[in-house]
Amino acid sequence: MSTRRDFIRTSAGVGASAALGVFPKSLHGAPHVVIRRVTPTCVASANGLGAAARAIQELADGASTIEAVVRGVNLVEEDPTDTSVGFGGLPNADGVVQLDSSLMHGPTRGAGAVGAIEGIKRPSLVALDVMRYTDHHLLVGEGAQRFAVSMGHKVEDLMTEESRRRWVEWRAQRDESDFYLTPDQTGERIGRMRAPEDFGGDPRVDSHDGYRPQGTINCDIVDSNGDISSVTTTSGMAYKVPGRVGDSPIIGAGQYCDNDVGAAGSTGRGEAVIKTCGSHTVVEMMRSGMHPTDACLEALRRIVHVTVEPRLQDAQGRPNFGVNYYAVNKKGEFGGAALFAGARFAVSVAGNSRLEDSAYLFERSQ
Ligand code: GLY
Repeated sequence: MSTRRDFIRTSAGVGASAALGVFPKSLHGAPHVVIRRVTPTCVASANGLGAAARAIQELADGASTIEAVVRGVNLVEEDPTDTSVGFGGLPNADGVVQLDSSLMHGPTRGAGAVGAIEGIKRPSLVALDVMRYTDHHLLVGEGAQRFAVSMGHKVEDLMTEESRRRWVEWRAQRDESDFYLTPDQTGERIGRMRAPEDFGGDPRVDSHDGYRPQGTINCDIVDSNGDISSVTTTSGMAYKVPGRVGDSPIIGAGQYCDNDVGAAGSTGRGEAVIKTCGSHTVVEMMRSGMHPTDACLEALRRIVHVTVEPRLQDAQGRPNFGVNYYAVNKKGEFGGAALFAGARFAVSVAGNSRLEDSAYLFERSQ
């Protein structure tokens, strides 16, 4: 009798299997890219200009692609002034910082992630340990923290004076219906969901101001051999329901990497990215031949298509939130796109690190 192990051995060992149609059509049709030399290129969210530059430097110093991007985002995780990531990230509704991160290493097809982990400043390092030292891809909550401690990570208070001040201010204004819906089928809220613009922020760009600011860092890299890695790390949506995890720790949502094709990641409203398998969609679009910028735009169109809830639409029926994608392909082509005009992304290539304007689907409202 043929066992599963035999099947795997046979499939992997006989090159002709693919030609005979053993693999699904989409993989069968993947372009066979022969890479000679690629200019090492790193893209990141706008708060990752320093991270992208560091990642490229790490590559030059001999780091692997996954080490390079993780060391890059560590800069932002450690930075108390970035209130969307790591130490100093804004907490959940209970005033507890819960962090999410995931990563993928193209050459080994490795993946690791942590969700809603508390007290660990650099969750990307724990995600890396999950990839390297466990048979799993995603650990969450208390178990994730216990694993982190077992790997030598320190548990610390991640609140800063500033993040506590902002949480206390939010708590004083909070509306009991924040983030909760009626249980009817339409999912309409009781009243209108209070949004950043009620408090002076713009909901359509990643913002560090306003009532419920959002931010995250994503970082994707390709090295001179065409090897690729990606990482995303965040404190998630500020003042979220305790236990909420966003897209960042979800492989295929907050980031995705396929060493045959490229890598992509996201920032912004994670719920919209999860629902559309966002970063995986971007990579699949690149696989079909799209430039990274066009692939990001196509994934954003899918978000628009599935955002049918009136509570999530503006007066013109467009999403009333922001999402940004960033992508790099195996040739070193890169791009970034956002739902609304005005977003930027970081790129580091050939010793030059800069912010570029993201492509977009919509002008802002007048
Ligand atoms: N994209 C980050 C989050 O929604 O948590």
